[in-house]
Amino acid sequence: MPEPRDNAAPVMQIEDLNLWYGDGTHALRDVSFDLYPRECLAFIGPSGCGKSTALKVLNRMHEGQTNVRVTGRVTMQGHDIHAHDVDPPLHRRRFGWVAQKPNPFPMSIWDNVAYGPRIHGLARTRAELDVVVEDCLRRAHLWDEVKDHLHDMEGTDLSGGQQQRLCIARALSTDPEVLLMDEPTGSIDPIATAAVERLVMELKRRLSVVLVTHSMMQARRVADRVAYFHLGELREIGPTELIFTAARDPLARAFIRGKFG
Ligand SMILES: Nc1ncnc2c1ncn2[C@@H]1O[C@H](COP(=O)(O)OP(=O)(O)O)[C@@H](O)[C@H]1O
Ligand SMILES: [Mg+2]
Repeated sequence: MPEPRDNAAPVMQIEDLNLWYGDGTHALRDVSFDLYPRECLAFIGPSGCGKSTALKVLNRMHEGQTNVRVTGRVTMQGHDIHAHDVDPPLHRRRFGWVAQKPNPFPMSIWDNVAYGPRIHGLARTRAELDVVVEDCLRRAHLWDEVKDHLHDMEGTDLSGGQQQRLCIARALSTDPEVLLMDEPTGSIDPIATAAVERLVMELKRRLSVVLVTHSMMQARRVADRVAYFHLGELREIGPTELIFTAARDPLARAFIRGKFG
């Protein structure tokens, strides 16, 4: 069972979550876990086992797809995220999302980061937006590389690793409580990967990070806790070192030893 971090109350609680896609695929089966403040929780497991689905449910991103059915309970700061008074776009704003493939908008670096705060009305003046843009680019360790080209370069002009840090800056721009990362280093080189991992280590001092990763080494380097998914079930969750050295679940043990997946 998860160990409460710093005896803090969970940021999110997921209880008996089931999810079926329209074609009948039962993608999540009775999944329960807590997410704590200032932790990095990694989701590991073979492909197709529900890791991305479990991530998407947290910010209700799966609702864009047709005919998805969800049962169970998900709360954030104690409030049911599916309650009638929860506005999905406002709920989504409490999360940052980073995808596997860097996906900057085809607009200037400045506009990429200012976009969210602008549409959500979080900054009113150009000067306020400048502050947010600089702060987020600094937090993403990109500021020094792009500060002279905020307006004359597009996000898509950057290298792959820079693009991913830009996407992280963009994900931070609405001041999220939880950062959701779906294999964020799956398509960038080892040096860029190391930079993203360092960032995760820093970011988790202020927010919760849920990280889907195919790399056992990455999970071991950056995660405080690890959750092992198998065919839609969350088979085991616990402190990283414990999962990697003494998982109780035979499937988790076999996967971690590289026997399949
Ligand atoms: N939009 C979708 N429609 C139908 N089935 C889906 C959809 N997305 C994922 N699935 C199925 O749900 C299961 C879990 O997928 P996913 O959450 O992407 O797994 P993972 O991230 O662990 O690879 C798989 O069987 C996958 O084929
Ligand atoms: Mg996935």
